[in-house]
Amino acid sequence: MTETEQTAIDREAIAANEAFFNQETTRRYLEVSPHVKYPSLRQLYSRLVADVLAHARKYSEVPTVLDLGAGEGSATLPFLELGARVVAVDVSDSQLSELRRKCNSYKDRLQVRQADIRSALLTDEHYDVLVMSSCLHHIPDYLSVIQAGVNALSKNGQFFSFQDPIRYDTVGTLSRWLNKTMYFSWRIFQEDFFGGLSRRLRRARGIYLDDCPADNTEYHVVRNGVDQDKIVELLSSKGFECRVVRYFSTQGSVFQPLGSALGIQNTFAIIAKRRT
Ligand SMILES: C[S@@+](CC[C@H](N)C(=O)[O-])C[C@H]1O[C@@H](n2cnc3c(N)ncnc32)[C@H](O)[C@@H]1O
Repeated sequence: MTETEQTAIDREAIAANEAFFNQETTRRYLEVSPHVKYPSLRQLYSRLVADVLAHARKYSEVPTVLDLGAGEGSATLPFLELGARVVAVDVSDSQLSELRRKCNSYKDRLQVRQADIRSALLTDEHYDVLVMSSCLHHIPDYLSVIQAGVNALSKNGQFFSFQDPIRYDTVGTLSRWLNKTMYFSWRIFQEDFFGGLSRRLRRARGIYLDDCPADNTEYHVVRNGVDQDKIVELLSSKGFECRVVRYFSTQGSVFQPLGSALGIQNTFAIIAKRRT
C-alpha cells in the first residue's frame, strides 16, 4: 500500500470517529462500553493503572501521562485520581466536553487537546506513560502510531494499551464460537439488526466501503481484531519487556460473567516497560 493510500484510509477513519462520537453516543457511552460498564473490567483496568503508575513513580514523583483517544474521561480519571499529570487527546468535541466535566476536580493536572493522534505525536514533549484505552482498534495503521508513541516516551517510559480485540484468527475455535454466539444473542435485540447482519455478510466476502462509517470507526473490530503478537514484536525490538493480559469482554450483561467463568479470552491489554 502506498503512503498516499494509507493517509486516505487514516483520514476516513478519523472522520468516521469524529462523526460517530457525537453528543448522543457520548451520552450512551457508559451503557455500551464493556470496559467502563462492568465493575470487573473497571477493577482490572484500575489494577493495571496502579501497576503502571507504581513503576513510573520510581523515576518521577508526578508521572506524566499522554492519553491518546482519551474519549469521555472514564479511562483518564484513574490516572488523575492516583496523582498523575495527564494530557488527554481526542478528535471528538463531545467526548472531550464530557471528559472536562468528569475530570474537573483535577483540572490543575489536566491538559485537553482536540487533535488527531498522529498530529498530537508530532511533538518534542516526553511522557512517562503512553496510554491507549479502547483506542488501537480505531486506528488503521496502529503499529506506526505505537512506533511514534514510543519516541515520545521518557527514558523509563511505559506503553499501556487496554481493551482491544485479540486478533481473531489467534483465538481458539471453541472460544471464537462461544464469543460469536454470545454477541449475536445480544445483537439480535439491538437497533438495526438487519442492517448489521447485511454489513456482516458483505464483510465476510472481504468487501469494505470507504463511505460506510460502520466499516471505518471501529476499524479492526470489523476486520481481524488487533494483532497482539505484532505489537509485542515491535515493542520488544525497541527494548521493552511486554506483559500481555488477556481477558473476556462482551456487550450483553448476562454473558459477561458467563464468558469470564468459562475462561474465554477475546480481549487484551499490554503493559510494556523498558528493559533494564
Ligand atoms: C472507544 S473510545 C475510547 C475512549 C477511552 N479511552 C476509553 O477507554 O473509554 C475511542 C476514542 O478514540 C477517539 N479516536 C479515534 N481515532 C482517533 C484519532 N485518530 N485521533 C484522536 N482520537 C481518536 C474517538 O473519538 C473516541 O473518543
